[in-house]
Amino acid sequence: MNVITPLSASVETLDKGLSVTLSDGHQHYFNYHWLRDNCPSSFNAATRERSFDIFHLATAPTAETANVDGDALVIAWKDEGHITRFPLTWLEEFSSAKSRKDPADLPRKAWYGDHYPNVPRFSQPDLVTNTETRKAWIEAMLVDGFVILTDMPDTDAALTETVNLMGAVRPTFFGDYFDVKTYINPTNTAYTSAALELHTDTPAEEFAPGIQFLHCRANSVAGGQSLYADGVAVANDFRARDPEGFKLLSEVSVPFYCEHDTYDMRSRQTVIELDQHGEVSGLTISQHMLDIIDLPQDMLDDYYPAFCRFGRMLQEDKYMMRFLMKAGECMVFDNHRIVHGREAYSATSGERYLRGTYADRAEMRSTYRALVGEGRFKA
Ligand SMILES: [Fe+2]
Repeated sequence: MNVITPLSASVETLDKGLSVTLSDGHQHYFNYHWLRDNCPSSFNAATRERSFDIFHLATAPTAETANVDGDALVIAWKDEGHITRFPLTWLEEFSSAKSRKDPADLPRKAWYGDHYPNVPRFSQPDLVTNTETRKAWIEAMLVDGFVILTDMPDTDAALTETVNLMGAVRPTFFGDYFDVKTYINPTNTAYTSAALELHTDTPAEEFAPGIQFLHCRANSVAGGQSLYADGVAVANDFRARDPEGFKLLSEVSVPFYCEHDTYDMRSRQTVIELDQHGEVSGLTISQHMLDIIDLPQDMLDDYYPAFCRFGRMLQEDKYMMRFLMKAGECMVFDNHRIVHGREAYSATSGERYLRGTYADRAEMRSTYRALVGEGRFKA
């Protein structure tokens, strides 16, 4: 049976807001500016944006009257002739200040060196036609941070088409795409046949691109095994093994650079990146793009040993996934979380050609939320 609370006992008008008794039987305070700004009529159903402009109210919003009518709070605003009606269940969602539930905020699952047989795999043509597969793909990216796409058409357009399933191509100062093969005058270690130590890409950018795509177009050389490790797995173990070192690497930023004839990119990053929950969300690491560390020399007495302990952990077999990429596969991975590298190969033994590009993490999450359909507005 519903108990009708006497109106006067449910709402109390105060100086800067209202005290409303909600279904938990407790009084909850709501500020007048917040109530007025979020009146349901403030939002345009077509654009789904707020169309109300609180900056143009002549005076601070104040309730003339406020009462509970059935399952709604009704406010008549002073000097405005405007009435707001809030479902009480809606107010309950905001009765304590907490972030809105985010379906893209999924717990990450750490993986280790034996992960290769279990890497989530998706057929590219299936991704193009099947929304459920696309959702599963992005979910795997959020949870595992590394997937392999198969059956990629052997064209430049296939890579763009694949990126566009989760977002837009995110250019870097190298351009929209990059081609990894051996060059006569290389500007980057990646463009040689030498071994490439584990790293994240473009650490010298202020916001390094979040998602990396590597489309393997040809791979018939001797050697050149790909190396991947989960930065979350390594950094979580490092946190337990070496809390002081973890604190330094997650709190103290160090400089990165990338310089040649026409560019001189610089940034500061912490080697270990934490998310809003304090959980490890990624790494920025690259020995070939680490600038001369400019921390006070006595701080380096602690920083360098911690950095080396962590760098050596990254190389442990326990974490290192090794495999040979096949033509027609596309590796998709979180560039902040997954470190990657490759073993040396013999440039004259065959052909090795990877075409790569990036997308943004935020755009991928946006696509996932839209696919899951848990936004504030329903179509
Ligand atoms: Fe790379």
